[in-house]
Amino acid sequence: MSFIASLKIMEEISFLRKEKNAIILAHYYQVPEIQDLADFVGDSLQLSQEAVKTQANIIVFAGVHFMAETAKIINPGKKVILPDLNAGCSLADSCSPGEFKKFLQQYPDHVVISYINCSAEIKALSDVICTSSNAVKIVESFKKDEKIIFAPDRNLGNYINSLTGRNMVIWQGFCEVHDVIRTEAIINLKAKNPEAKLIAHPECKAVILELADYVGSTSGLLEFTKKDPAKKFIVATETGILHQMKKYSPEKEFLIVPTDDTCSCNDCPYMKMNTLPKLLNCLKYEKPEITLSSELLEQAKAPILRMLELSK
Ligand code: 13P
Ligand code: SF4
Repeated sequence: MSFIASLKIMEEISFLRKEKNAIILAHYYQVPEIQDLADFVGDSLQLSQEAVKTQANIIVFAGVHFMAETAKIINPGKKVILPDLNAGCSLADSCSPGEFKKFLQQYPDHVVISYINCSAEIKALSDVICTSSNAVKIVESFKKDEKIIFAPDRNLGNYINSLTGRNMVIWQGFCEVHDVIRTEAIINLKAKNPEAKLIAHPECKAVILELADYVGSTSGLLEFTKKDPAKKFIVATETGILHQMKKYSPEKEFLIVPTDDTCSCNDCPYMKMNTLPKLLNCLKYEKPEITLSSELLEQAKAPILRMLELSK
């Protein structure tokens, strides 16, 4: 799309957003033009905190389905729309409610902590939700000897076990974007750039997290690059985050860890389903809309509110 065409769409979106009293919330993995247009850009926790306090009538969620669903659960009275309803999440899909129910039956005396990257049905089966930025805090809010199930991300679960000394039972789900980040690619980048610091999202495999100079959520990674004196960073997560990193620290260099030899990128195919034209259409026609049964809305709400309360 030409620059002029993008500008025209952006203008139209800005006009409609005002007219309809809509707010555009965008995740750091969205394409740069959507991040630049959004009212708020953040990680999963920040986006749900923003969703809970908005006065807007319509929430346009430029992210993936579970994020928009979370916004709907905490705002049942508002219209929540997503530019592309097919923008799912491989990690959320790795935990089906039927299988998870059977899994839980094996551990009747365990509390259930679920990472926010899961469906509303899984949230409804959980005691509390967490994100990558508050997972340690949420886990530590339980007594040392509490029996815990952690779902669905195995890498984050194992990482939290290693940090807290817990022995949580872990559902073996994973993210198809982070789990495939190759150690060899990192070693090659590090060999060519020995002065660069490695920063990684906790959805990466344990071996990468062990090698990393810093592990954190997308907002944590961004903050680290702002504050750390290093001039070069090897970034083990999705490409979208580089937009804000470069914006805040234009003098620094950021090297994304590629997952194959075809590009120096690592894109989440679901996050990248959202485009400016789809965002415009979604705001214009106020669809596709997130809808959930009132029963599911009610059941999934308590564990999210508990997380928001514990994160204050
Ligand atoms: P953050 O909460 O760190 O933004 O992560 C969301 C996500 O989907 C990572 O793959
Ligand atoms: Fe889901 Fe992975 Fe995409 Fe994050 S990067 S939205 S966990 S598929």
